[in-house]
Amino acid sequence: MRERLSRYLAGPGGRIEGELTVPGDKSISHRALMFGGIAEGTTDITGFLAGEDCLATLRALQALGVRIERPEEQHVLVYGVGPDGLRPAAAALDMGNAGTAIRLFMGLLAPQRFDSTLIGDASLMRRPMERVAAPLRSMGANIQTLDGRPPVEIRASGGMRAIDYALPVASAQVKSAVLLAGLQAFGRTHVTEPAPSRDHTERMLGAFGVEVLRDGATIAIEGGQTLRGTRVRVPGDFSSAAFFIVAGCLAAENGLLLRNVGVNPTRTGLIELLRQMGADIRVHPQGGRSSGNEPNGEPIADIEVRRSRLRGIKVPESLVPLSIDEFPVLFIAAACAEGETLVRGALELRVKESDRLAVMAQGLTTLGVENQLLADGLWIRGTDSFGGGTIDSHGDHRIAMAFAVASLKARSAIEIRDVANVATSFPGFVASARAAGLQIDAA
Ligand code: S3P
Repeated sequence: MRERLSRYLAGPGGRIEGELTVPGDKSISHRALMFGGIAEGTTDITGFLAGEDCLATLRALQALGVRIERPEEQHVLVYGVGPDGLRPAAAALDMGNAGTAIRLFMGLLAPQRFDSTLIGDASLMRRPMERVAAPLRSMGANIQTLDGRPPVEIRASGGMRAIDYALPVASAQVKSAVLLAGLQAFGRTHVTEPAPSRDHTERMLGAFGVEVLRDGATIAIEGGQTLRGTRVRVPGDFSSAAFFIVAGCLAAENGLLLRNVGVNPTRTGLIELLRQMGADIRVHPQGGRSSGNEPNGEPIADIEVRRSRLRGIKVPESLVPLSIDEFPVLFIAAACAEGETLVRGALELRVKESDRLAVMAQGLTTLGVENQLLADGLWIRGTDSFGGGTIDSHGDHRIAMAFAVASLKARSAIEIRDVANVATSFPGFVASARAAGLQIDAA
């Protein structure tokens, strides 16, 4: 069930302090379930994100014939059915709000010898799917979208062949879908990225015993390899920690410590951006810098952050894919910084759970923060403090949480509407935010 909360009321000001652990990583939880489903043997997942997005993946796998047990909320056992063991689902598979689920399932299901239909909620039904369908078609898939959007109709495959594919956009979802199809195709598939995107798929396939080769910007995978079930320890989600990293920059006089956070370098662009803005952020790798203690190849750290004066920056385009989900909260940091911040080359933000450029621009305007919406970015003039007001999150979890953080610098309360989807990635956000020092209530 979706969290039934429909709005937040965030009072102005507040002091951030203490220690916090955020829920498990969403990208890694989706992949652990899916890879476990098609592996031979059992996969034991701890630290699983029990958010709505990953639960949609879990239910879809069950509908495809995979037995899954959840002895505890964050502990999941997946009894893999092996490479040919998935069975047709009785009905359309509902991916809810989850872009990662629908796109990775396209890669997983296109090579199967049965038909599948993939659907989602109103937001997902508006999002582009041809970016995945097109390369899968050139591998031999019989796959259709409705004017580029879901429902995605997949017809039984007569066999897939490897391709060499140059991704037109830096997208981990497209890369992962092609690699998953390549795993079930004849020959060796090559995917070349225009810029590095998150590499959880490559790292986790390695942990499941699959050989993934990387040569510069090109990743190669040989078809026909079998995954072997394994243990997956899911770290805290950096993208959830991001809200508190910014909150700490704004209001943690004595520091805030975030424990057990995934710090895969393809995810942590926000740390670099905030440091360029003048932030005091310290990363303490778990087990020490050279311990090599990286369960499933994913580095984990404690992150310490302190209040500091932020200055506006011109965001280097090379850091955009490495901080792609963090822009809503980075825009809040920019609104609180001295001087101007400019983001360009971020067109992808227009096709996330909402049009994050337009929705953030609208919300900042409501609070009285001067900004200009650009075709592929946003310009913001920071200010000492801004007003309150009513923000429409457009059902986008990260927009809702970003404006909750903004309340730390607001002169009056911020009401945030349409927040139920926060449960897709951060169940318990309000409790964590209150524990850290935000004056927030769910209404
Ligand atoms: C994700 C990839 C990114 C990101 C999304 C999760 C993933 O999307 O925005 O939240 O788990 O692969 P794109 O691949 O579309 O950039």
